Amino acid sequence: VSFFASVEMAPGDPILGLTETYLADSRPGKINLGVGIYIDEQGRFPLLPSVCEVEQALAAAAKPRGYLPIDGMPAYNRLTQQLVFGAGSPLLAAGRVATAQTVGGSGALRVAADLLKQVAGAGAKIAISNPSWGNHHVVFRTAGFELLEYRYYDPASHGLDFAGMLEDLGKLEPGTVVLLHACCHNPTGVDLDTAQWQQLIALLQERRLLPFVDMAYQGFAQGADVDATGVRLLAASGIEAFVVANSYSKSFSLYGERVGALSMVGADRDEAARLLSKIKQTIRANYSSPSTHGASLVAGVLGSTELRARWEQELGEMRSRIHAMRAGFVDKLAALGAPDFGFINRQAGMFSYSGLSKAQVHRLRDEYAIYALDSGRICVAALNRSNLDIVAAAVAAVSG
Ligand code: LMR
Repeated sequence: VSFFASVEMAPGDPILGLTETYLADSRPGKINLGVGIYIDEQGRFPLLPSVCEVEQALAAAAKPRGYLPIDGMPAYNRLTQQLVFGAGSPLLAAGRVATAQTVGGSGALRVAADLLKQVAGAGAKIAISNPSWGNHHVVFRTAGFELLEYRYYDPASHGLDFAGMLEDLGKLEPGTVVLLHACCHNPTGVDLDTAQWQQLIALLQERRLLPFVDMAYQGFAQGADVDATGVRLLAASGIEAFVVANSYSKSFSLYGERVGALSMVGADRDEAARLLSKIKQTIRANYSSPSTHGASLVAGVLGSTELRARWEQELGEMRSRIHAMRAGFVDKLAALGAPDFGFINRQAGMFSYSGLSKAQVHRLRDEYAIYALDSGRICVAALNRSNLDIVAAAVAAVSG
């Protein structure tokens, strides 16, 4: 009998597993609106010109590859701190932020989850928005957290249930970790405005909850700085401790390079130093140290005034194209006489929580070869002028 005879088949991942099904689908004209990726007008992942320029310079001066430090490339970490917290952040000047390069945003979540579990011990609890990105639950459950939910999305208005959110968070035990999406909430596309962030932060502070901000889509709602409003307000609030995971997968279109970072804010320089030592210990136990290439690309862009400005422009072009696709989709659906989808214009980022039922999503897949998540989440960043009419006609047909 094989040692592995008792191993059971694990279920496929609801997002990446769907991409596997999509790739195996032999129907011509199939469309993948399942996974959160930005696809350009030509139907391709963009290679940003700013990134390409750094890549060419790196290739021209190819260097041997030693190990990076456990916490990653120092320039990358410094530039990441500036992008996330703002270049003039008093937190950075005070040395209160411990940042490490991680294997994508998921790597940051996982390292933080392991470390926070060590700190919180047997009673570790995390509150996650209902709904949220499915992997949030998986990562924190695997790290040994008890998962709690707070209200977030109001299906009736297709908007935020802010009163419900505050009520649920107000009941949490002190010390509970609260997972927040910085912007472009995944899967709903529904974000907090500045006044709501302020109210939320006051509650987190009063209840002594630990804010944990996941920023996977910085720049996809309104711009790199505005999208970090929640982080900047937390930094200004006087809260002693909070955590930020950020990713460059989307903002630099570097999905496969796995470039992200974990930043943990402590009460003072000494606490941040101890946090960094623990982050390094956790990374070493998981994957030893991160890889060089993606971080070199990001650091090369962010470290050059000229390339950084170009990158912000390229990011702005992706953002504008998504806005145009949202508007075009809504108009097209209205012209086809579908029920009102105007709320899609009010949602931010790559996703729209379309309100389509699981049965309707399955009809899209089976009858039209259009892939969306069972929750009804569609990736509007994968729409373009060639597939917009096809998708709108199919959505109108299944929702009519
Ligand atoms: C998504 O939500 O589709 C993306 O964040 C990709 C992923 O890893 O799930």
